[in-house]
Amino acid sequence: MNNFRHLHPDTEAQANLSAKERVQWLQKPRWIGYPRAQDILGKLDDLVHHPRVVRMPNMLLIGSSNNGKSELVQRFAQRYPAEENPRGEHIVAPVLYTQAPPTPSEAGFYSEILGSLYERVPAASVDAKRARAIHVLRGVQLKVLIIDELHNILAGASVKQQQFLNMIKFMSNELQISIVGCGTSDLLRAVSIDPQIQNRFIPELLPKWQMTKEFRQLLMSFERTLPLRKPSNLHEKTLASKILAMCEGTIGELSILLNTAAIHAIKQGNEFISADILNACGYLSPSDRTRNASRL
Ligand SMILES: Nc1ncnc2c1ncn2[C@@H]1O[C@H](COP(=O)(O)OP(=O)(O)O)[C@@H](O)[C@H]1O
Ligand SMILES: [Mg+2]
Repeated sequence: MNNFRHLHPDTEAQANLSAKERVQWLQKPRWIGYPRAQDILGKLDDLVHHPRVVRMPNMLLIGSSNNGKSELVQRFAQRYPAEENPRGEHIVAPVLYTQAPPTPSEAGFYSEILGSLYERVPAASVDAKRARAIHVLRGVQLKVLIIDELHNILAGASVKQQQFLNMIKFMSNELQISIVGCGTSDLLRAVSIDPQIQNRFIPELLPKWQMTKEFRQLLMSFERTLPLRKPSNLHEKTLASKILAMCEGTIGELSILLNTAAIHAIKQGNEFISADILNACGYLSPSDRTRNASRL
């Protein structure tokens, strides 16, 4: 077996596999723990261990679409899997991941909560659904409720938006839990109508990537996970600038670009990513795709 010093120890063995196996491996999801993500994970951990008090701390995780919000909170939720509780009526689930319904519907959200805990949803009034959801969440000893796609509330009239925000405050107070809302910057605009929410929800930002030391470190980490047999030196300044311009700053596009380029480099036998490979691999930037679509 050859050693590949430019790779992460877990990837080194992969680099010896056949081209077909390496392409398959590249198509599987990988998560890179860049410093900002680790920082936010640390703050989320703090919420789980926070004692129950009258005013629980809450968080808003804000970032562009495709910039790693859902991956981050799902990874956090996986750290706290639900456990059997032989002595209790319910399992124990310290962290629950949910998504806001497509429009700000209170009843829809209670159904989502109950559904994600495999609980029966009563076909009854909103009040009955609320009572059931509160009872179940108390039973599972919830500490942190994640509401992804919370910017969906903007799809409703302002009265409905306010009702949804009131419901969130009610749940946080009633259950003494922390709420983590995830969404785009529109979410900040939506909560600005409610000073109480604005005061009690600390925004944590996942900004788009720029040409910084952190971005070049991210490229180094990515490179160590790509099973290519030769080093590409993606963090090198010209290559890094080209990559950033192509992916337009989101980690989701960066991941697609580097995987597409790596697959091309394996199939062509180059075994490393260069500017030529980036141009030839068939990746289209988000704005190229929009431009092409507008020509249809
Ligand atoms: N830490 C990470 N390491 C590697 N790839 C990531 C990471 N975070 C996100 N991605 C990639 O970006 C894509 C979009 O992430 P996602 O969390 O769904 O974004 P958002 O919720 O902000 O729209 C994911 O499908 C994954 O491919
Ligand atoms: Mg998401």
